[in-house]
Amino acid sequence: MSRTPLPAFYDDLDATFAELWRLLTDGAAQGPGGFHLPTLATLAAAGGPRLRTVVLRAADRAGRTLRFHCDRRSDKAAELLAHPACALAAYDAGAKVQIRVEGYARLHTDDAVADAAWAGSRAMSRVCYGTEPDPGTALPTGGAYSLPDETAAAILGRPHFAAVVVHAQLLDLLYLDRRGHRRAVWHWTGDLWVGGWVAP
Ligand SMILES: Cc1cc2nc3c(=O)[nH]c(=O)nc-3n(C[C@H](O)[C@H](O)[C@H](O)COP(=O)(O)O)c2cc1C
Repeated sequence: MSRTPLPAFYDDLDATFAELWRLLTDGAAQGPGGFHLPTLATLAAAGGPRLRTVVLRAADRAGRTLRFHCDRRSDKAAELLAHPACALAAYDAGAKVQIRVEGYARLHTDDAVADAAWAGSRAMSRVCYGTEPDPGTALPTGGAYSLPDETAAAILGRPHFAAVVVHAQLLDLLYLDRRGHRRAVWHWTGDLWVGGWVAP
């Protein structure tokens, strides 16, 4: 009986690190695999955790950053401003890999990072940032909100747009295999990543 070969990174820590960033980078560039839609965790004002799905827009191994976009009027934006510590988790069933990232977030609203992210956004994505009233506002009926058309959104959406850059401090990859799972964790020391295998 033939068995699926183990991946090349299986017992190779450096290759596992490279695979982690490859999966995130590809996840940002392609959709709709698991790494395109990570779950973002923030801390609520009351101290509890809050989770939601976001679209991963970029992953940069050299800069140790991930980027997603949000409405600066949203709860998550307020939570990240108050408590920049955050985490992202994603699982891709095809790759059989879970990746967890912990770090801190910086909101970019009126700088070159935000301008470049807005310039790279599609018209249909920009429409969301023109939602009225503000995201999270109670509505009398489910449809009692408005969105601008794509032309108007190019102007109306920009003041509400934020590019969020997560600066990674901890990386955790878990690979599932019946022959033995593999899990590795890396901490950013301020100068370099220090990592090793851990029990899954
Ligand atoms: C597939 C999917 C992708 C999403 N992508 C984003 C995103 O990139 N940015 C975002 O702010 N919200 C995104 N959302 C909506 C959030 O999950 C969430 O419902 C909304 O932003 C309100 O979150 P908040 O109240 O915590 O700010 C997405 C939801 C789904 C289901």
